[in-house]
Amino acid sequence: MLEFGDDEARRLDRSYATSDVVAQRAQTLDMLRLRRGESVLDIGSGPGYLLASIAEAVGPGGSVHGMDPSEAMNALARERCESMPWTTVGTGDALALPFADESFDVAVCTQVYEYVADMPTAVAELRRVLKPGGRAVVLDTDWDSLVWNVADRPLHDRIIDAWEEHLADPRLPRRLAGLLRRGGLEVTDQRVVPLFNPRLHADTFSTTIKETIAAFVPGRRGVTAEDAAAWLADLDARAAEDEYFFSLNRYSFSAVRR
Ligand SMILES: C[S@@+](CC[C@H](N)C(=O)[O-])C[C@H]1O[C@@H](n2cnc3c(N)ncnc32)[C@H](O)[C@@H]1O
Repeated sequence: MLEFGDDEARRLDRSYATSDVVAQRAQTLDMLRLRRGESVLDIGSGPGYLLASIAEAVGPGGSVHGMDPSEAMNALARERCESMPWTTVGTGDALALPFADESFDVAVCTQVYEYVADMPTAVAELRRVLKPGGRAVVLDTDWDSLVWNVADRPLHDRIIDAWEEHLADPRLPRRLAGLLRRGGLEVTDQRVVPLFNPRLHADTFSTTIKETIAAFVPGRRGVTAEDAAAWLADLDARAAEDEYFFSLNRYSFSAVRR
């Protein structure tokens, strides 16, 4: 799977500042319905953009905990939240949350469960740390929703096939509502969150993700570095010919522990 070392953490940090991902975070915050003073856990908090917005929303009377197995990510998250001392960031895994039962009013997990193979355990952990009445929001990508204009479709299909190795389940969203319900949570809302780039420029998610994909795929499923370079050139040519088109859906779920 994708390793979140220093280079990848920096690349992800850049892509999370694009308007697409800023809009996605606004939707997640809307679904979280945070109140001042609440205690919140962000599972797989990554570079900490959402964590910082949560900390602002609950204020100094609340408590916010970010948690991620990647130290490169945790360093970015700590820096981002350092002016809000009611926020802590620690090392941890979604499969063994380092918190007592019924610790949190709210838990959020965006773009993380798709990396986790044992989802029943992850949902059991999510439920365990929520207080009765506690709320959760989960968001993941379904890579079957990808529409990306290319001239060389067979090459593109090989690249995306190799890219799917970066996740435990590249189609997790379609299973999520059932997984949450079977894990003892009531699903209260489900939304689609589209990322749509009809043009290629620096402030779009696909500008960064194509570089991440090109760095990941060589050596997987027969894809070479030359294949990856040719695929990038194909996308750039589509943009130069005013034919650029990228669309990808994420799906977001609200749930409650009754
Ligand atoms: C695509 S990033 C998402 C970061 C953040 N949640 C966000 O949406 O901005 C995926 C994150 O999941 C973390 N991760 C991967 N496997 C994990 C696991 N088993 N438990 C918790 N976090 C995990 C990675 O280290 C990485 O920071």
